[in-house]
Amino acid sequence: MALCLANVRPTWRRAIPLSAICSHSKALCFSSAESHAISPNLEFSPDCDEATKERLRGNMKIHEDFISAEEENNLLEELELKFKRSRYQYDHWDDAIHGYRETEKPTWNEVNNNVINRLRSFAFSTTTMQHVHVLDLAENGHIKPHLDSIKFCGNTISGISLLSPSIMRLIHIQRPEIFAKVLLPRRSLYIMKDFARYDFNHEILSNNESFFRGEKVTKTRRISVICRSPPPSS
Ligand code: OGA
Ligand code: MN
Repeated sequence: MALCLANVRPTWRRAIPLSAICSHSKALCFSSAESHAISPNLEFSPDCDEATKERLRGNMKIHEDFISAEEENNLLEELELKFKRSRYQYDHWDDAIHGYRETEKPTWNEVNNNVINRLRSFAFSTTTMQHVHVLDLAENGHIKPHLDSIKFCGNTISGISLLSPSIMRLIHIQRPEIFAKVLLPRRSLYIMKDFARYDFNHEILSNNESFFRGEKVTKTRRISVICRSPPPSS
């Protein structure tokens, strides 16, 4: 049986008070001299030093076109059935997410299971948690900066984006002037691990904040299919 959503969500994410980031987020600007060749999907803040850039490049990888349009459709078909009766949640100020519905999916039809297994073997060297987390973010939804709980999630988080591109932002926890925007194209896979996973909060920007290298990235409804490694003790 699927876990009750109310029991799942708070254990994974700890929202960071917006006040902690708002002061600098209004002044975001980026150097236009970034090297597109080395990291086409990462845009670093001006305060990001070379060593940090290099570590982030190694720990936050984007693989474009990880699934085909047909595979995306197959996943969507199965997920629409699952979400049919649930509504988008827009509530509490301290929630990490605004405008979403989500589920924990333990099993998939055979075709989609092949895609999930491909994700698992591509992104993880160890086993992953059995349930796949699916997050359906409405067009006007966004995910606030947070860290996935270290009690319930190990060192690697990997997800496929369906339906829309979006911008993930990683903000260094100790030094918030160090941050990176990550362009997540539709049907791409991201692998966030170690340094990127533990030293940075991550968020998915709302559509009106979705810019990458100065260009608007239109975020519509976006569904992510996410696998996580288990915490070390489990
Ligand atoms: C989360 C999260 C990112 C995504 O659910 O904790 O950060 O790709 N999701 O949807
Ligand atoms: Mn998260």
